[in-house]
Amino acid sequence: MGFNTVLYKLKGLYKFGKTAPKLRGKVFVNKFGTIKAGKNLSIVGHPWAVQITSIKGANLTFGDNVYVNAGVGIAANKEIVIGNNVKIGPRTSIFDSNYHRMDSTDKGELSKRIQIGNNVWIGADCTILPGVTIGDNSVIAAKSTVNRDVPNNVLVGGSPAKVIRELEIEDGWIRD
Ligand SMILES: CC(C)(COP(=O)(O)OP(=O)(O)OC[C@H]1O[C@@H](n2cnc3c(N)ncnc32)[C@H](O)[C@@H]1OP(=O)(O)O)[C@@H](O)C(=O)NCCC(=O)NCCS
Repeated sequence: MGFNTVLYKLKGLYKFGKTAPKLRGKVFVNKFGTIKAGKNLSIVGHPWAVQITSIKGANLTFGDNVYVNAGVGIAANKEIVIGNNVKIGPRTSIFDSNYHRMDSTDKGELSKRIQIGNNVWIGADCTILPGVTIGDNSVIAAKSTVNRDVPNNVLVGGSPAKVIRELEIEDGWIRD
């Protein structure tokens, strides 16, 4: 297919992974903190590049069987933990920092841990904001902005994302 794979500072990701990640297209990895990956991490940097960053002192963890689609940006400034069997749709952003302050009274923490449970499907063009925990098996509908915690086993959608309905998930079921 002639995909051009650009691996930037990926050293270390292989060391932590049980198997080497499958990478296609352009995958830029800015690794100054830690990045850990389980087995079967797939990242598709085609037709849009994927950018994965862990700054100094930050931790980014991928579970087993995580699929990262084209154009996704993931930046850990503190900590991002992504569970097993998670699918991340195209052009979705997962940044655990706001980076900028709102005004001169804004003294809060800029970076807050993000946790994404097992068997979560995040649709295309979503934004997962700092401090959010997404429960196991839940689905984030396309173009959602997730600014609050999401319980287990629900569909959420919209901006800001709200619970649309509960999902029926049998024990051990993994979304294909
Ligand atoms: C959520 C989704 C799977 C549809 O699920 P569904 O069970 O068929 O849901 P429905 O279409 O019956 O919609 C249920 C409700 O959710 C709403 N809804 C569906 N998608 C939505 C979205 N992206 N944002 C906001 N609301 C949404 C519908 O309007 C409907 O609301 P209503 O009951 O008030 O009419 C689909 O809309 C979606 O977002 N898919 C993601 C596709 C994607 O991003 N693919 C990229 C590859 S990973």
